[in-house]
Amino acid sequence: MTQRTPIIAGNWKMHNTITEAAALVTALTKAGNKNHAEIIVAPSYTSLHIVTRLTKDSEIQVAAQDVHWEDKGAFTSAVSPIQAKDAGATLTLIGHSERRSVFGDTDEILNKKVAAAMRHGLKVIFCVGETLQEREAGKTMQVIEGQLKNGLANFTEEQLNGIIIAYEPVWAIGTGKTATPEQAQEVHAAIRAYLAKTYSDKFAQATRILYGGSVKDTNVDEIMAKPDVDGALVGGQSLIAEKFARIINFN
Ligand code: 13P
Repeated sequence: MTQRTPIIAGNWKMHNTITEAAALVTALTKAGNKNHAEIIVAPSYTSLHIVTRLTKDSEIQVAAQDVHWEDKGAFTSAVSPIQAKDAGATLTLIGHSERRSVFGDTDEILNKKVAAAMRHGLKVIFCVGETLQEREAGKTMQVIEGQLKNGLANFTEEQLNGIIIAYEPVWAIGTGKTATPEQAQEVHAAIRAYLAKTYSDKFAQATRILYGGSVKDTNVDEIMAKPDVDGALVGGQSLIAEKFARIINFN
């Protein structure tokens, strides 16, 4: 861990009814926060409003899981940044691997989504990561650099100030197969080096890089101990209050 304020974020994906989301977040408001981490939850759109209401007097911040690139229009089923903000989100994930692989979000689309989120003052958690095949072909950093270069194209360092990067190796998501702390550190350090080369050392040092992929109460401590790991983006275990509370209060 470093001087950078740690972030523990829970991506609830397509889980939880409004009632379940309310119960979960209410439990989390009592979880404590011994590391003074930034705590973020990303509920489904249907629960954004209630979760925002229930976290009003807490440290928990609320993120959308995605936003559309237009402010409004004929885009059946999509949610615009204005709507996500209106429902209470102050951040949004962009480029989660499930958006890329299941819904076909391309780098170009993601770049437009980042622009839309920033235009409306939503803080962006931009997700990157390689598949197992890409890792085994030795292409991990080539893939990630491409995702960063194209997804964040045309923005200046000033515009990207405050952006959060999440490294989520696709092979570790929902598989129970976690990257080792060393594998995570290696990629995080390479991402930071890329940010330094592309923007500035100051920007690279200030940017938080989260690890995601089968983070659990039992492995969070060793992952968070790595110098370039500034936080965790948690899927499955963020749905279980006691587990996520333990992750928030990592050692
Ligand atoms: P799991 O923690 O369930 O592997 O999911 C990780 C993830 O995709 C978070 O965005």
